[in-house]
Amino acid sequence: MKKCISQNNLKSVYLENNTAIKVFSKDYNKSDVLYEALNTARVEDAGVNIPKLLSVSVNNGQWEITSEYADGITLTQLIKEHPEKTADYIKKMVEYQVDFQKKSNPLLLKLKDKLIRQINGIETLDSSVKYELLTRLNTMPKHTKLCHGDFCPDNIIVNIDDNADITSITAVDWVHATQGNASADIANTYLLLKLQYSDSSIDIADMYMTQFCAATDTKKSYVTGWLPIVAAARMAKNKPDEKELLEHWVNVVDFQ
Ligand SMILES: Nc1ncnc2c1ncn2[C@@H]1O[C@H](COP(=O)(O)OP(=O)(O)OP(=O)(O)O)[C@@H](O)[C@H]1O
Ligand SMILES: [Mg+2]
Repeated sequence: MKKCISQNNLKSVYLENNTAIKVFSKDYNKSDVLYEALNTARVEDAGVNIPKLLSVSVNNGQWEITSEYADGITLTQLIKEHPEKTADYIKKMVEYQVDFQKKSNPLLLKLKDKLIRQINGIETLDSSVKYELLTRLNTMPKHTKLCHGDFCPDNIIVNIDDNADITSITAVDWVHATQGNASADIANTYLLLKLQYSDSSIDIADMYMTQFCAATDTKKSYVTGWLPIVAAARMAKNKPDEKELLEHWVNVVDFQ
């Protein structure tokens, strides 16, 4: 039997026979579906343990991507159910991310190229701000580490034991994966956590960044230097509810 596990106006995800079937709306761009499938396969080729891509097909005029089903719950659900264990959960999230950052695939799009294109494409951004951001981007160290691009609790699937400790962790939604500077991906997740937990009494985003920097012996300023760049790039999504926070981060040029 088919069970719907996630739905919005552009795509729905169904669970059927231990597979996850992502069904795209009828007018969804074909090359975007194929890009998502190819990008996911390239992450698989990089050796990351993710639900394997099984097929790409068309059913009743709608494109579908079928993958193995990752049994479990999202990290968003888990944090909601056990907020007292948030620090432990964030530690696991960081460990998983640091682990996949050790992998790469030269065929993935370069994060820097994507950021340049996104920043150039934002009509609402002042040209002097664009210039400043692109200049800063140009000075950033060029790496080829695997970056998820949308690494947030909704895209993380976990299993837990009787003490609600995480026993397994994986990530889905690799459509935005690129090769680039790992700290840029950390800055991106920091922003995503700021957006998702803006009402939370604990600063989960800060906890996450502190844990990453401690685990990898990275200076915080090295990660925060990416914040204006990744915040500007995210503006390209044009989400009204994110506008204020993103504008704030774009302008925090010398955040410490
Ligand atoms: N292979 C999978 N195994 C288990 N659950 C999955 C799988 N793929 C997707 N899901 C579930 O479906 C949700 C949405 O899938 P996905 O993240 O790929 O789509 P999306 O493009 O982010 O859609 P949305 O805009 O709704 O976030 C995920 O957050 C996850 O809970
Ligand atoms: Mg998602």
